[in-house]
Amino acid sequence: MTASKRAFITGITGQDGAYLAKLLVDKGYEVFGLLARRSTSTVWRLDYVGILDQITLIDGDLTDLSSLIRALKIAKPHEIYNLGAQSFVGSSWDQPILTGQVTAIGVTNVLEAIRLTDPSARFYQASTSEMFGLIQKEQQDEQTPFYPRSPYGVAKLYGHWATVNYRESFKLHASSGILFNHESPLRGIEFVTRKVTDAVARIKLGKQQQLALGNIDAKRDWGFAGDYVEAMWLMLQQEQPDDYVIATGITTTVRDMCRIAFEHVGLNYEDHVVIDPRYYRPAEVEVLLGNPAKAQAKLGWKATTTLDQLITMMVDADMKRVGAI
Ligand code: NAP
Ligand code: GDD
Repeated sequence: MTASKRAFITGITGQDGAYLAKLLVDKGYEVFGLLARRSTSTVWRLDYVGILDQITLIDGDLTDLSSLIRALKIAKPHEIYNLGAQSFVGSSWDQPILTGQVTAIGVTNVLEAIRLTDPSARFYQASTSEMFGLIQKEQQDEQTPFYPRSPYGVAKLYGHWATVNYRESFKLHASSGILFNHESPLRGIEFVTRKVTDAVARIKLGKQQQLALGNIDAKRDWGFAGDYVEAMWLMLQQEQPDDYVIATGITTTVRDMCRIAFEHVGLNYEDHVVIDPRYYRPAEVEVLLGNPAKAQAKLGWKATTTLDQLITMMVDADMKRVGAI
């Protein structure tokens, strides 16, 4: 138990934020989170993991440095996890400037807030396999050159290098997790796995007939978000800050992921999936495949949930949700 430690999480209302907050609460941390103002409540995931009444939410926004400084002065955290972002790749072409302000400049805002309040706090940046984009190596690791393919990927690359630069310039304990796609029943509905598992449930329960998708030949290295937040925490427990690829080391097409999801409820995806070019992207990341060897060697971290287990977990959760509507 690390009873006296305090953590501050931006993006606490998102998928990873909820799993990470739960992990830290279970480890005995006092957990604070940044709550961006929206017109409707955004805390359903924190409720789902059962910790809403065990954490402290502080109003603020990644684009507002003053709010971040105020939040850090209240929370006085030992560890800061920057998970907040405009994280949907598809939307980043429609809102490229907002994506840059939140996902790129937002990182510098957090780093500056740390410098101005307590530079001894440890920092985690949510970097991404999207930075590899047009892949320069069949299996990507920490040494693979980046080639982002979306305004989101470009913004994340800025955040990644800002993290490295503040580590080198100001000796901050700043680490960057280059995480490959990770999913869960708490995944946003716009991402392909959840879009599929939700549709599978609706089709099985007679509430929908078809599912329109884009490029189903794209390949992703998909893991379970619950496994991945453990890696974030492990990075901040190391004596030295560093960058780590977090992945399963297995890549699968969207098509095969669909097959698994439909088969779990006795359906054939080919009877229901239709291709709609509206879901094609202006520039696609065709394939991602990570090499998590460094994380395994240095952090002792390894993905434990298979894609079959993950997708069936998500279909089961959506069957419950859709059945209850
Ligand atoms: P997510 O579910 O989309 O959550 C994003 C979070 O960012 C939400 O809490 C959101 O708040 C918050 N946010 C958005 N704009 C903000 C702003 N201006 N100020 C403050 N907070 C803001 O994302 P996720 O899947 O949990 O991912 C967590 C992080 O890891 C993100 O940075 C993402 O880019 C990165 N990442 C994710 C994956 C993945 O496969 N999931 C892989 C690599 C990296 P609201 O709830 O109010 O919208
Ligand atoms: N969303 C979506 N919707 N994607 C589709 C669809 C569809 O209808 N049809 C095919 N796809 C393809 C996309 O073109 C992409 O190649 C793949 O499915 C995965 O798309 P997403 O689930 O939206 O995720 P992503 O890989 O673009 O981005 C996610 O992973 C990144 C890490 O690699 C996000 O979580 C990012 O925030 C994260 O950084």
